[in-house]
Amino acid sequence: MALNKEIASKSCCSLSQTRTNLVPGEGSPEARIMFIGEAPGQKEDQEGKPFIGAAGKLLSDLLLTIGLKREDIFIANVLKCRPPGNRDPLPAEAAACLPWLSRQVAIIDPLLIIPLGRHAMERFLPGMKISAVRGKILRRNVPGLGFRVFMPTYHPAAVLYHREWLTVLESDFKKIPQILEYLTENPSNGETDNVSGNWDTLELGVKKERKQEQFF
Ligand code: URA
Repeated sequence: MALNKEIASKSCCSLSQTRTNLVPGEGSPEARIMFIGEAPGQKEDQEGKPFIGAAGKLLSDLLLTIGLKREDIFIANVLKCRPPGNRDPLPAEAAACLPWLSRQVAIIDPLLIIPLGRHAMERFLPGMKISAVRGKILRRNVPGLGFRVFMPTYHPAAVLYHREWLTVLESDFKKIPQILEYLTENPSNGETDNVSGNWDTLELGVKKERKQEQFF
């Protein structure tokens, strides 16, 4: 992807000085689903690939439970460079990296975006609480990107610390195939922004005719 060369050629914030490798993201250019994490950790920084540590193993295992492989999806992070000591991204760092993430979304043009954890969610659904919106299907008109469909869920690394959240993460993943099926059949359904309105909707398993009104 030419974009990766462009990212590598720019020093958008001071993290480009301390990283070992850029971790732009990877996956299928045809991916219907895009996962967005927080930032590369130590292993990712060493290898230049996203989600290859313990959190990545959990992500891969969860994908397998729904019949998907890493090659089927695209995965990127809010930050493309590792923050020292794996600290949280600073707002200025996230803002400096956002144009790259937006361009990745525009190029991949996924049907469904899954923000993993609060940092990824904040980029597209600002002000929301991950515990309140995880597992919900939200459609939002994103500046510069048009209407996009999101299903935020917990970050796998957080679940490794809070094992009691695993069943919740698993149940969110189980929704993915049906959401993709629905969005494939109804690609530009109802151009309304349901983020602040009636978004607590998609009742999986309801009859298709009803799905449309429940979805958006
Ligand atoms: N956590 C993330 O958010 N991203 C990675 O690439 C690895 C761990």
